[in-house]
Amino acid sequence: MLGDAIVYVELNVNRHGMESRDFALRPARPGEGEVLYQLAVLSARTFCGTHYASHFIDTWMAGLEHDAYEPGIAAGNLVVAESASEPVGFVEWNPGRIERLYVTQSGQGIGAALLRLGEQQASGEDRSPIELEAALNAVNFYERHGYIRLEPGVFGGRPPSLIPIPMMRMRKTLFCHPGESHDQR
Ligand SMILES: CC(C)(COP(=O)(O)OP(=O)(O)OC[C@H]1O[C@@H](n2cnc3c(N)ncnc32)[C@H](O)[C@@H]1OP(=O)(O)O)[C@@H](O)C(=O)NCCC(=O)NCCS
Repeated sequence: MLGDAIVYVELNVNRHGMESRDFALRPARPGEGEVLYQLAVLSARTFCGTHYASHFIDTWMAGLEHDAYEPGIAAGNLVVAESASEPVGFVEWNPGRIERLYVTQSGQGIGAALLRLGEQQASGEDRSPIELEAALNAVNFYERHGYIRLEPGVFGGRPPSLIPIPMMRMRKTLFCHPGESHDQR
């Protein structure tokens, strides 16, 4: 489990050489699940509309309780990106899987930093492959980070009364830690 400390700090200079906002990654804190739930709702509303009609977005989190993230937080499997003391993204993982990744400030390297950390944790010492269910708006993002498309599907865990939300199953088969020369990126 990650300790209760800042685990990663990014002084972000984007590929155009412009400095953007600093952010830090830290373990999520018990009781923070509600805030992260609202962050996920905002993120989906802000960024998923490019690939989903509003009737998908409006029910994006339906079937998920507001405290649904607390078990992941308690297990130490959830890390938050923070900027100016406010959460601006988070990643949740389990062994071999990235479960959730959401940011509220796009294009600043926050998603990539969260994904890298989540991958390190999910892949573990044996560097097992990583699978995830990608929102359709994020498929290209994951491809840029070494994932390949497996098959289309729908997100699980939704009440049958709600419209199924399409997604893409993806896998990263050759996982290398940052800084290693044979990363797939
Ligand atoms: C997908 C998401 C996590 C990306 O996070 P982000 O912080 O905007 O991404 P970053 O700024 O770290 O981008 C890293 C790189 O990926 C690229 N990128 C980001 N989003 C992209 C997208 N949707 N498609 C293609 N490339 C993308 C960036 O241009 C950047 O490229 P560069 O390294 O060449 O500059 C974010 O848009 C998001 O939260 N979306 C809504 C929720 C969601 O879809 N979650 C994931 C699936 S469940």
